[in-house]
Formats: sequence, C-alpha cells, structure tokens
Amino acid sequence: MANENETTEQAGGVATAESAESLTITDSRTGESYEVAVADGTIRAMDLRQIKVSDDDFGLMSYDPAFTNTASCRSAITYIDGEAGILQHRGYSIEQLCEHSSYLEVAYLLIFGELPTAPQLERWVYDVTHHTFVHENIKKFVEGFRYDAHPMGMLLASVGALSTFYPDAKQIDDPEQRYMAAIRMIAKMPTLAAFAYRHNMGLPYIYPDNDLTYPENFLSMMFKMTESKYEPDPRLARALDVLFILHADHEQNCSTNAVRGVGSSQVDPYSAVTAGVAALYGPLHGGANEAVLRMLRRIETPENIPDFLARVKDREERLMGFGHRVYKNYDPRARIIKKHVDEVLEATGENPLLDLAVELEKRALDDDFFTSRKLYPNVDFYSGLIYEALRIPTGMFTVIFAIPRTAGWISQWMEMIDDPEQKIARPRQVYTGARDLDYLPVDDREGAEKITGPPARRPKRPRRGA
Ligand code: CMC
Repeated sequence: MANENETTEQAGGVATAESAESLTITDSRTGESYEVAVADGTIRAMDLRQIKVSDDDFGLMSYDPAFTNTASCRSAITYIDGEAGILQHRGYSIEQLCEHSSYLEVAYLLIFGELPTAPQLERWVYDVTHHTFVHENIKKFVEGFRYDAHPMGMLLASVGALSTFYPDAKQIDDPEQRYMAAIRMIAKMPTLAAFAYRHNMGLPYIYPDNDLTYPENFLSMMFKMTESKYEPDPRLARALDVLFILHADHEQNCSTNAVRGVGSSQVDPYSAVTAGVAALYGPLHGGANEAVLRMLRRIETPENIPDFLARVKDREERLMGFGHRVYKNYDPRARIIKKHVDEVLEATGENPLLDLAVELEKRALDDDFFTSRKLYPNVDFYSGLIYEALRIPTGMFTVIFAIPRTAGWISQWMEMIDDPEQKIARPRQVYTGARDLDYLPVDDREGAEKITGPPARRPKRPRRGA
C-alpha cells in the first residue's frame, strides 16, 4: 500500500507534474506547452486556468454540461464498475450485503464507514426505532394537502419542514447534532412516507410501532387497519428490506449531487436532503419503475412481445427498465431483485406480469439490437413488480426509493462537509447573451405594442436520461 502521506497528498490534489503522471498540453493558439498533473485518471480543471492567450485572458475552462466527464468529489462510499456490473459500498459487495445484512446496518456502514460491532448496531437500531415519531404539528401540516396531492410532493414539503423543528441541526460541525439529524431523517422518512399514502387514501394515520423492525414498521404504518397489532409477512418484510439495501446509495447520481450542491452552502442537513428528494421526484431519476409497469400492461400477453420489440427497434418505443448510463452489463441490483420477486409472489399470489417480464427479458437478451448496445435489465425492471405485489400504488414508488436513499444522501453530505477540498458549489458558465446595451424607456421599445400576451412558448427540446 502507498504510504499514507503520499496518498493524502494526492488526495489533497498536490500531485505535481514531476511527482506523478502528467499530461502535456500544447496550445495551438500560442504555441505554448504546459504540463498538467494527472492523478487518479483525472486532471484538475483549475490547472487549465494557467493556459492563456494574453495576460488579461481569464484562462481556459472546461465545459461539461451535465457533468458527464467531471468528477466533482473524492468519495470512499460507493464503488461502481459499470462495465463489469459491480456495486460495492465501503468495499462490501451489494450481493453480500443483501444476503447477510439489514438496511439499518447498511445505513450505518454508509454513514460511519465500517460495519458496526454488535453493541454499535444495537444502539443504532434503538436510536432509529425511538425517533420514528414526528411532531403532531407535522400531521396537521400533511392534513392540509389536497386529497390527491402527489405523495412525493408531500414528502418533499414535510422533509423540508423538519428543519424548522430541529433548528440545532444548523450546527453542522457538531458531531452530536449530525448524529441526531442522521437518526431523525432515517427514522422519520418512513413515517412521513406512510402519512402521505394514508392521506391520499383518506385513511387515519398509523403511529410507528417500536416492536417492529424498520421494514415491518413501514408496512404497518401503510397497511394496518382495525387489527390491534399488525403482523407483517416476514417474506414481504425481508423483500422490502432488500429493496431498501439496493437503493441505499449509488454514488454521484442526480439527487446525491443535489444534496452535495445545496449542502455546500452549509445549510442544515434537512434542507440539503430536501433537495435530494426534489431531484429524485423527476421522471428521469426516480420514476422508471412505474414506467415498466405501464409498459408491461400495454404489452399485455407474451404473444405481443415480438411486435413490441420490433417497435422498440424502430424507435417508436423504449424498453423501459433496460439500459443504464453507468452499467454496460447486467445491473447487479436487478439480478438480486429478480430472486426476491418469486418469494414475494409466493406470499401475495401469482402476477401474470412477472411471466411477461421474464419472457420479455429473455427475448431482448437474445436479440442483437440490445446486446450489441449493452442494454441489460436495470434495477427498475423488476422492482415495480414487487411494489405492486405489496399493493403499493404507483405514485408511491419514488417515495419508497427516497426512504432508503436517505442514508446515502446523509453519508454523502457528511463526507462533503468533512472534505477540506470542498467549497460552496459554484460552477462557471460560458456567457452567450448580449452585452453593453443601453436601457430604453418602455414606450421607445420596438414592437412593444404588438405583444398582447405572454411570450411564445419555446420549442420543446428532447431530453436525454440520467
Ligand atoms: N430501449 C431501447 N433502446 C435503448 C434503451 C432502451 N431502454 N436504452 C438505450 N437504448 C439505445 C439508444 O437508443 C442508443 O441507441 P443508438 O446508439 O442506436 O442511438 C443506445 O441504446 C445508447 O443509449 P443512450 O440513450 O446513449 O444511453 P444513455 O446512457 O444516455 O441512457 C438510460 C441511459 C437509462 C436513460 C436509457 O438506457 C433508458 O432510457 N432506459 C430506459 C429507462 C430506464 O429504465 N431508466 C432507469 C435507469 S436505472 C435507475 C437508477 O439507477 O437510478
């Protein structure tokens, strides 16, 4: 292993052209050459600033809309090898974690960097379990939403509201405050999610039950009716726990980037995590599992699969739940989910959509169109089927994604706060607008009399997924 000082120096970004690998850049505008240090397969964007055409030139910047080739941080939380289909948290494979661990243990691992000892785990589970209640005013606040409010909108608003109940969380450098914020968010997220669901259904809210495990308690708050004690099916609770583990973190995705970006202003962690919930709400991020179910319902029977795949190849359709920006191999999370679908359906009864999904996957993987493009099932291909079997309405799917991702958001937020290299996130821009115009009084502006309504709608630009 490299000596610790060397590693730290490189981590701190002081690798020099002499001490490490380097890149030689020749500026064809001036003929000047520059040596730029290469560390961990990256160059520092700030090293480009020295490249100027004149003394008063601002210096070269990199242009990278959507950060498709920019590392925004150094992180020791989640490792993904998309080509090989590998996902690891703090060095442990997702397969081992799903087989042996619980979501709460994985949350501890993500946040503290190590698997807990038995007493540490006991205290962690105790603390989370005993902070699941929310202030009664939050219940009143949720009651204020329309009966058909989207549960993700309700979750977004109520997580943001939590910051007003815990103003001490603003002390982001105080370890005790950070611990309490982590505990509270992980503990209360299922309560807020279940309240949003019960509000939509017009059902009374169910308070947390401290005798139940984390996933069991969530099922109880969702589905308890008149029984005095809700007794969850252990197969369903385990499948939900595995789904929670699978969604706990996925390195620098859109919502995590939002949490880090907003958190970099040193706002409290409740507000930073609210930004993550908002980002997850978008259909390009948290909503694909819902689209898979809609697609399967449209295909209806296995006989229609060839026709559907032909339409996909003609680009009239997209095979939802297939393909990924990072994984160019079978998404390891999809493989794990698939194993649990059978267990869940054993408890809830057959679902013809599963047979359809299995057949669709088989036909697609036999087809050169998909294999040549490295399109394999992703996490969303089977997760919707489990949620549906659990009788969870589609509007709640993204909410259920947000519950476990909270551990990832918090761990990434903490890592960002402790990283001496991080500052307030503030990208640069390439300005393309007008300059140095003279202000004209309103009556002197040409064409002003012709405008009778709002400005014309701009043509819709096709968007690419995340
Ligand atoms: N069905 C049909 N063709 C596809 C699909 C698909 N699902 N995904 C990609 N392609 C084709 C695409 O048309 C392109 O073909 P060509 O090179 O001939 O133009 C090629 O494959 C490369 O696709 P891309 O659009 O460059 O890939 P991307 O990395 O920009 O998009 C994606 C990744 C996930 C947005 C895309 O695969 C997709 O839309 N999949 C369906 C939606 C989905 O399942 N999303 C869930 C992602 S997992 C969620 C998570 O991890 O949080």
